[in-house]
Formats: sequence, C-alpha cells, structure tokens
Amino acid sequence: MLVKHSKRTIRSGCKKCGERSLYWAHDSEQPGDYCEDCQASGKWVLIEVSGMVHQCGASGETPGAADGKSSADIEEIQADKHEEKTAVTATSNPVATSGSGDAFAAFQSLVASLAPKVDRDEVAAMIKAELDGIVVPTRTVIERTSGVRKVIKDSHEMLADVTTDLLAGEHVLMVGPAGTGKSTIAEQAAESLGIPYYALSLSPMTAASQVLGYMQAEGEYVRSLFREAFENGGLFHFDEFDNGHPSVLAVINASLANGQMAFPDKMVKRHPDFRCVASANTYGRGPDRAYVGRQQIDAATLDRFSIETIGVDEALEQSLCMATGLAKDKVLDVLAHVRSLRKNAEERGMTVVISPRASVGMCRLLASGKSWQSAVESRIRRGMSDKDWNKLSDTY
Ligand SMILES: Nc1ncnc2c1ncn2[C@@H]1O[C@H](COP(=O)(O)OP(=O)(O)OP(=O)(O)O)[C@@H](O)[C@H]1O
Ligand SMILES: [Mg+2]
Repeated sequence: MLVKHSKRTIRSGCKKCGERSLYWAHDSEQPGDYCEDCQASGKWVLIEVSGMVHQCGASGETPGAADGKSSADIEEIQADKHEEKTAVTATSNPVATSGSGDAFAAFQSLVASLAPKVDRDEVAAMIKAELDGIVVPTRTVIERTSGVRKVIKDSHEMLADVTTDLLAGEHVLMVGPAGTGKSTIAEQAAESLGIPYYALSLSPMTAASQVLGYMQAEGEYVRSLFREAFENGGLFHFDEFDNGHPSVLAVINASLANGQMAFPDKMVKRHPDFRCVASANTYGRGPDRAYVGRQQIDAATLDRFSIETIGVDEALEQSLCMATGLAKDKVLDVLAHVRSLRKNAEERGMTVVISPRASVGMCRLLASGKSWQSAVESRIRRGMSDKDWNKLSDTY
C-alpha cells in the first residue's frame, strides 16, 4: 500500500529522468523506515500524479541523506507531512480535479484543510460586530451631459438636491441649524458644477463695497470676489445670509434680479455660469429663540431663491466622528448621548444647539485622553446653568 506524504511536486524531480510531477510516498508493502507521522513502515518511493509508483526505476530512493537526495527535498517532505495530514480530510469532499491540475489540487487541499476550522456562526458574528452601527454617508454622483462625471464621497444627503437646483438655473438658500454642513455643501456644489467657488460671510457690518468692489481715489476700480463670479462665472456663497445688513441684501437682490448689474466702474453682464448660494440659520422671518440676532429678509429677496432645509445628516455625522480615531464603541456612546440631548432640546423647546460640531469635538477630546465628564462640559454643556442642564439631560 502506498501512503502518500507530499502533496506538492518534488522540486528537484526524479534524479534519473528529471520528471517533476512526482510526490513522495511510503510503500508499506516493502520493509523500510518507520514513519512517526503516518505510522507506516516501508520504503520511500516517488509516485506519479496518478498515485502509481514512478516507473523510472527511482523507487529505490529514500529520503535519507544516504540515498544522495538533496537536503532541500528532505525539507520539503518534512513540511508536506503535516499538510498531507490535513489534506486527508479533503477526500470526503469530492471536487473534480484534472491530472495536470497539481496547483489546483494543492489549492483544494488548502481550502479543505481550512474549512473544518472555520465556524460560520463565529465568522458571521465577528463581521456583524465590526459592521454594527456603521453607516455609510451618501455618495453623490453628478453626471453632466458633457460626459463629465463627479463622485463626491462622504457628502451630505442634501448635496444632490442643492446641485440639482443649481443645474436647473436656480439660486439656492440653504437653511438649517449651525454646523449641519451648509458651507461644505456650497463648496462641494461648485465642485460638482465644475465652476469656481467664492464666499463671503455676511454680518451687520458687511458693506455693499465688499460685494460690488469700489473705486480708489485715483479712479482705479478694486474688484471684489463677487464681481469675479458675476462677470466670469462661478458659484458665490453668501454665508450667514440672515445676518447681513438689509442694504447689502438689497444689492444682492438686484444682482440676482437682472441680467446685468451696475458695478462702481461700469455695467456688467451676468455670466451664464454665475450661480448664487446663500446659507442661513433661519428662514428669513426674523430672529427666533436660538438665533436671536438674525435679520428678517425682504420677501422680494427671498423670492429669488429655492429654499432647501439642511438638517443633521446622521450618517455623515457618524463618519466624521469615526474619522477622529476614537474607538467605535466610544463613538457610538457619544452619538447616543448627543442625539438623546438633541431630541430632548427639541421636544422641550430649549434654545440650545447641539450640532455635529459638538459630537465631533467630543470624540476628538476623548481620543486625546480627556475624561467623558470633562469632554461633555467643554463640548456640550458649555457653561449651561444647572437648571437648564438638568432639564436638557433629565430622562423625565
Ligand atoms: N461632507 C463633509 N465632509 C467632511 N467634513 C464635513 C462635511 N460636512 C461638514 N463637515 C465638517 O463639519 C463642520 C461643520 O460644517 P459646515 O461649516 O459646512 O457647517 P455649516 O452648516 O456651514 O455651519 P454654520 O451654520 O456654523 O456656518 C466643519 O468642520 C466641516 O469641515
Ligand atoms: Mg457655514
């Protein structure tokens, strides 16, 4: 009986004929060395792929040094002994092999040797544990008729809506609480459209000259970023739109209303690729309890814009938190805490804003070693009175 030991072909092949598709086996019918591994005694012989003794007359060779075989061959036999043991389990698993498929047979043996060690339930549980709580942010794909295709990974779920409005020729007013990603959407929308991005943050002190540019005493016109976008094309973002002075908003209104605009130096035609995006924390109906300093926006100005509401995109928030490097279970703790407080604030009519900046900031502080308590104090509570804090965090 032949007891096969190596499942790989012999590197040095048959010393006489040079054939390499051979394996080592014990011929237990013939007296010879006792093999601890297979418990068989018999001569070492070379066998063919078919399992028959190699016909070249090499059957007298043994793996010992005395038979003249190289030590490389002997090492191979030693290594293969173990593999053969596990490969034996594969025989109950019938898979078609071809006579020339030595590599395939070796692969089969490997798979078979691993298969009994893999516990499907255990692997499924491990994968589930890794994926649990992981959500993937929106991937926005913009395909233009020109054939240009842009893919923006990790985008806000509203980026597609805002970009669609802009592609349709609309100007867009994005309204949402602080830190929900409005400015980032504006920047990514410009990227999606393939036009330059310009921005100006409005405050009650922002002057019309910051929008229109101005004439120097020597009579030279100083261009503004807005002029650049208006004349040459680009996306202009008016951030904090509801914080701007009414006179500036009137200038902006005029620029959107007409195909041309009076700048300090001359009349300028609006470029067909000029788009305007504004962002605000209110819908322009004046201050509310959380955003007390906001202006009411003139109805005619508001009328120029399509309005998109930008809330917290929880998948994006989680991905930003994960990017801080904090361990996943801690990130999930932070998110659970922040979201329960956010919900309480809304349900209890409180004016506090717990934006994604709070959750991301808290993850960052925890990742750098701050205690939970201290991170909550500096990123969420932020000096809130005991009374308000209890109202916000009480489960009732
Ligand atoms: N898609 C995104 N990918 C990566 N980071 C983002 C994304 N969206 C928002 N952020 C990050 O979240 C933070 C808040 O985003 P952003 O400034 O765009 O919000 P906002 O709504 O304009 O805030 P505010 O109302 O205070 O102006 C920023 O640090 C920004 O870098
Ligand atoms: Mg902003």
